[in-house]
Amino acid sequence: MIYFDNSATTKPYKEVLESFIKVSSEYFGNPSSLHGFGGKAERLLMQAREQIAHLLNVKHNEVYFTSGGTESNNLAIKGTALMHRKRGRHIITTGLEHASVKEAMDQLKELGCSISIIAPDKNGIVHAEDIEKEITPETILVSVMHVNNEIGSIQPIKEIGEMLKKHSRVVFHVDNVQGIGKVPLDLYQASVDLCTISAHKFHGLKGNGVLFIRDGLRLSPLLSGGNQEWKMRSGTENVAGIVAMAKALRLTINNMERRLSQILSIKRYIFEEMNKIEGITVHTPEKNSAPHIVNFSIEGFKAEVFVHALGERGIYISTTSACSSKKAAASSTLMAMGIPEKDAKSAVRISLSYDNTMEEAEVFIEAVKENVIRLREVMKS
Ligand SMILES: Cc1ncc(COP(=O)(O)O)c(C=O)c1O
Repeated sequence: MIYFDNSATTKPYKEVLESFIKVSSEYFGNPSSLHGFGGKAERLLMQAREQIAHLLNVKHNEVYFTSGGTESNNLAIKGTALMHRKRGRHIITTGLEHASVKEAMDQLKELGCSISIIAPDKNGIVHAEDIEKEITPETILVSVMHVNNEIGSIQPIKEIGEMLKKHSRVVFHVDNVQGIGKVPLDLYQASVDLCTISAHKFHGLKGNGVLFIRDGLRLSPLLSGGNQEWKMRSGTENVAGIVAMAKALRLTINNMERRLSQILSIKRYIFEEMNKIEGITVHTPEKNSAPHIVNFSIEGFKAEVFVHALGERGIYISTTSACSSKKAAASSTLMAMGIPEKDAKSAVRISLSYDNTMEEAEVFIEAVKENVIRLREVMKS
């Protein structure tokens, strides 16, 4: 099997699964229980929080555990809107965002917020000056993703954060689900207030994530109950998943330091080879894009036909993002970039991990070439 769908989800590392099993079987106590066994679970939770804070270069009291990217994005956006509803009801976001941001915004719009959506340029990148033009005294939040999940373009988070320093009452949220462990981002330097990450995108387990909340920033919680996570997110903590997430983050960041050049050469090779194949257009920008994502269209083919054809050979790639891939809709990111609908409908995405090899990339390129020829023959007959 060649697994090139790592932006949809990644294979959990062996050590991550071992941690999960050990904590689930030996330390299954509830961290809120008063007895010593609960205390052991509480200590593990605290250690994981400290490790994650250290890896993100933030303080431990800024790390809030959630069930993943979707929940962290919803908490960041709706929690800010609820908290600051008396101060203002205007939010700025981009046309590039994941459904968990887009749909949270749609819900807030129904509740009376006004949402400005910044269009990206033709390379799938938004600009700080376009965001600044939309800021009004009513603006409470700017939400911009770091790495786009469909084409891999990197947004200028540092520049946006710098610009927002002039508008200190505007909260800055960054969805870093696709960037973590692939494209470094210093949250303090970039003046980020809220940042989302999700464990299953970096070889952790599904159902675990983090929302970084800058010290002193207040949000309204979405889940009320037993007051866990400093009252920000009630619900008994998934200690085993959280410990496993801390391990996955450490291993991923180690891999970033050791293997970034390998993944970059694989991406470069795929780029070069794709550009040689007639009828293929690469949408991922060559500059300012993440090391692991390449998005391209094949003229005249529906994306799903191609995904299935490669799937039959044990090569797993994706149409657009995993959550919209079954809707057969044109990629919203490509449409926002001004790509014609027919090309956006034939776009496919490959997404690499540090475990992929150049040999796999070579097999993939051969399979693409053969399939383009074969499918063209089928279409002619
Ligand atoms: C950019 C981005 N944000 C948020 C999410 C949602 O994360 P989760 O699957 O952990 O809910 C995803 C998942 O694909 C994503 O790519």
